[in-house]
Order: sequence, then structure tokens, then C-alpha cells
Amino acid sequence: MLRVAIIGSGPAGVYSAAALVAHGDVSVDVFERLPCPFGLVRYGVAPDHPKIKSIASALRKTFEDPAVRFLGNVEVGRDLTLEDLHRHFDAVVYTSGAAVDRRLDIPGEDLPGSFSATQFVAWYCGHPDAPLDRFPLQTTAVAVIGVGNVALDVTRILAKTAQELRPTDLPDHVLAALERSHVQDIHLIGRRGPAQAKFSTKELRELGELAQADILVDPADLVLDEESAELAATEPTVRRNLDVLGEWATRSPAGRPRRVHLRFRLRPVEVLGASSVRGLRLESTAAGPGCTLEVGMVLRAVGYRGVPSPGLPFDEDRGVIPSQAGRVLRDGVAAVGEYTAGWIKRGPTGVIGTNKSDAAETVASLLADADSLPLAQQRDPGDVDALLESRGVDVVTWDGWCAIEAAEAQLGLTQGRAAVKIADRASLLAAALRR
Ligand SMILES: Cc1cc2nc3c(=O)[nH]c(=O)nc-3n(C[C@H](O)[C@H](O)[C@H](O)COP(=O)(O)OP(=O)(O)OC[C@H]3O[C@@H](n4cnc5c(N)ncnc54)[C@H](O)[C@@H]3O)c2cc1C
Ligand SMILES: NC(=O)c1ccc[n+]([C@@H]2O[C@H](COP(=O)([O-])OP(=O)(O)OC[C@H]3O[C@@H](n4cnc5c(N)ncnc54)[C@H](OP(=O)(O)O)[C@@H]3O)[C@@H](O)[C@H]2O)c1
Repeated sequence: MLRVAIIGSGPAGVYSAAALVAHGDVSVDVFERLPCPFGLVRYGVAPDHPKIKSIASALRKTFEDPAVRFLGNVEVGRDLTLEDLHRHFDAVVYTSGAAVDRRLDIPGEDLPGSFSATQFVAWYCGHPDAPLDRFPLQTTAVAVIGVGNVALDVTRILAKTAQELRPTDLPDHVLAALERSHVQDIHLIGRRGPAQAKFSTKELRELGELAQADILVDPADLVLDEESAELAATEPTVRRNLDVLGEWATRSPAGRPRRVHLRFRLRPVEVLGASSVRGLRLESTAAGPGCTLEVGMVLRAVGYRGVPSPGLPFDEDRGVIPSQAGRVLRDGVAAVGEYTAGWIKRGPTGVIGTNKSDAAETVASLLADADSLPLAQQRDPGDVDALLESRGVDVVTWDGWCAIEAAEAQLGLTQGRAAVKIADRASLLAAALRR
């Protein structure tokens, strides 16, 4: 039987495990640094998108297979070394995602009040590493930089009312902070034109359906240059996005208490303020006038980035583990026994489903190498458990995760909500380990 370790329990890790056990004679241990599984499905997908979140019910089936074990609260690089992994497993698949944010590299970016969407998302999703309260929601105006789906998510969460957010599983402290929010104006800023925006149309359309926010689009922003007109003619998503924006440009504001301003062809050049954010200076990228927005918070939603893992090669430019058909490349040579899938393999783009075909490619390479894999010396799953125990690691098993889920549902019951996320690590571990 082949013994495989997977590092990370996001979609890429789970789809890799599913593809491996579908093959037959394989047993898989999935190591996850957090007490909870599913990566960005739990800690990225917006809480007001329950249908997408329910993908977790499909992913959980993989962990219900006796050939797959979940070992949560185990961080590779801290609790286990690469040498440990190769001693216990015939092959290792790295699916550690893209945990950090990209930067703008402009003056003022590190002022208090300037954050990445990564930090804001981690906070509202109840990520155990996110500080409890750091966002100045007493400000009335916020700038969101970037026009991709993450920018839409953070804008929507800021623009929704407490009544709209209450049915979600937002942690208590997040719901309370958003209930107290003074935010009225959210400026969503794209450095290129609307045809180049990365929005999915379904997600874009949702912005126009908010109960208490008007959407403001300047018709002048929708005038297309030749390249954009070509894109609109050939790309159905671009056409549909432009149709949505075009309809909004004709709307008269209904006087709702919040406003989302969509702005294009403006690039941020400086975050202004002495001790905290007071404004954002923007320059036109189309020979028009620039402008300064008075805002008390800036959120950059300009993409995610992978982080290097100790002992593994890393492509600094792309923020990925270099690979070929899923095989990790060491000095340009494919390493037998080391594989990668998901965002850490191909970079931080693509929806959940994209990771399924990506994982399939990686698993096909691993299985093709099966006969030449260096066999692990300590193949018994109990050996891994004993090693982790000897290092004092409190492993969260699948049953432990089910106990966390039950505790979150119980918390929801007390508030008339389906579930309430537990955010801090100690409480998660207490629920999982029944301490
Ligand atoms: C804010 C946001 C919202 C999104 N919303 C949607 C959406 O609505 N619909 C959609 O289809 N797609 C959405 N996506 C995209 C989708 O989430 C990604 O395509 C997908 O999660 C990538 O999967 P992954 O497994 O590569 O990475 P991840 O989901 O990030 O999983 C990586 C896992 O590895 C773990 N890990 C990292 N390092 C270690 C280590 N050293 N040891 C052990 N474990 C480790 C992490 O804790 C994490 O659990 C969203 C993305 C973001 C950023
Ligand atoms: N509901 C969903 O399906 C959902 C939700 C969230 C995320 N996701 C997926 O997750 C992936 C990541 O999403 P994302 O929004 O992080 O990334 P993204 O789609 O790549 O969007 C990033 C945005 O940031 C802009 N940007 C980058 N650098 C910039 C800079 N220096 N200054 C100003 N703007 C800059 C980009 O503009 P340029 O184009 O000009 O570079 C782009 O508009 C995507 O594949 C997305 O579809 C899906």
C-alpha cells in the first residue's frame, strides 16, 4: 500500500486525497496547521455565500473514507520536518495555498488603517491567527483597491446591514463590530478599465441587490477604447459585466444610507495621513485627472501570494513551488516523491473547482511514479501519531473537527442562527479535544 502525506486541507489537498484513494491501494494522511479543515472554503469564501460554503459537505466525504486521516493543528515546518515526512511516507503532496497578501509598494501603505483584504477576510471569517479587533469601522469612508472577486467580497461585507449579515455564521465579535460600523461610502478602484476587471458577473450583480446601499457608476468610465471594445466583443464575461455596469450607470441613487462607488482607470500612488489613514491619492492611467479620496481605511484586494516552506524550492517571482505536471522541481529536475497542487503550484487564481483538475494532474504524475518512489521506513500510521505525541502536538482528528462543528451549531442555536464560528484557537482546541 502506498503511503502519502498531503500538506494542507484546502480544496487542492482534499481533491488530491480523493483522487489518490479513488485509485485504490493508497492511504493518505492530510496535515493541516489549523484545527479546522477546508482552507479558504472555511477561511476565504464569504460568509454570505452559504451555497458555495456548502462545498464543504462534498469535501467532507473524502475524510469519511477510512483510507484518509485528518491531522489538524499540525504545522509542517514546525511540528514535522521534511525528513520526518519522507521517513513516514512514500510521497508528499504540498497543497499549502497562498497565505499572504500582495503589496502596492506605495508610500503610506503601512499606516494604521491600511490593510490587505487578506487580513480583513481572515478577520470576518474567524481565522484563528487574525487579531480580534483592528479595523477602524468608525470611519465613514473606505477605499478598496483592485477589481477582482475578493474586492467584491469585502465591499459587500462592508455594505451589508447587520440584518443582512445575521443569518451567516460570522463570529460574534465580527457581527458586533459590523453592527456598530459607521461606514457609508465604499470606493472600489480599478487601475484599468471596466472591461479588464476580473469580476465574475454573478458576484458583480449581487452588489446591485444590497438592501441599504446605492451603486454609483460614472457613464464616462464605461466608454471603451479599442482594446476594451475588442474584449467586450469576444469575451462573454466582459460583455455581461459591462451590461451590469451599464444598467447601474443609468440608475438614480435611491438615497440609501450606504453607497458603493465603482471607479476605473485610477491607480493608487500614496496613502495619506500622519498617524493613521486620512486619504488616498490616485492618478489617472488614462491621461485624465487624478483625485484624492478622503478615507479612513484602505483595503488592498490586489491578490494573494504563496510563502516558501523550509527545505522546499520556491519561485520568488511567482510565489509558487516550481513544478512540472505537479512534480516539484529541484534545480530544474523533477523530484520523485515530492508533488504539489493548488494555489501553491499555479499561483493564486481560480475558483474551488479549478483545483480538482489541477489535483488530478498531480495525482496522475504521482501514480505514474509509484514504482520508483523511495519506500518510507516507518509505514505504520501509529508511528506518525507517536512522533507527534512525543513532540507534545495536540492533534485534532476528524472526530475532533466534528466536535468543533457541533459546538458551533450549538452556539448558533442559542442565538437563533444556524451556526456561529468559533475564532480563537484555544476555544477551537477545547471543543475538539473536549478540555
Ligand atoms: C477571499 C477568497 C474568497 C474566495 N471565494 C471563492 C468562492 O466564493 N468560490 C470559489 O469557487 N472560489 C473562491 N475562492 C478561491 C478558492 O478559495 C481557491 O481556489 C482555493 O481555496 C485554493 O485551494 P488550495 O487548497 O490551493 O489553498 P487553500 O484553500 O488556501 O488551502 C491551503 C491549506 O493549507 C494549510 N497550510 C498552509 N501551510 C501549511 C503547513 N505548513 N502545514 C500544514 N498545513 C498548511 C492552510 O492552513 C490551508 O488550510 C476564494 C478565494 C479567496 C482568497
Ligand atoms: N465568488 C467567487 O467565485 C470568488 C470569490 C473570491 C475569489 N475568487 C477567486 O480567487 C482568485 C483570487 O481573487 P483576487 O480578487 O484576489 O485576485 P484577482 O482576480 O487577480 O484580482 C486582483 C485585482 O487586483 C488588481 N491589482 C493587482 N495589483 C495591483 C496594483 N498594484 N494596483 C492596483 N490594482 C492592482 C488587479 O488589476 P489588474 O488586472 O490590472 O492586474 C485585479 O483587478 C480569483 O481567481 C477569483 O476569481 C472567487
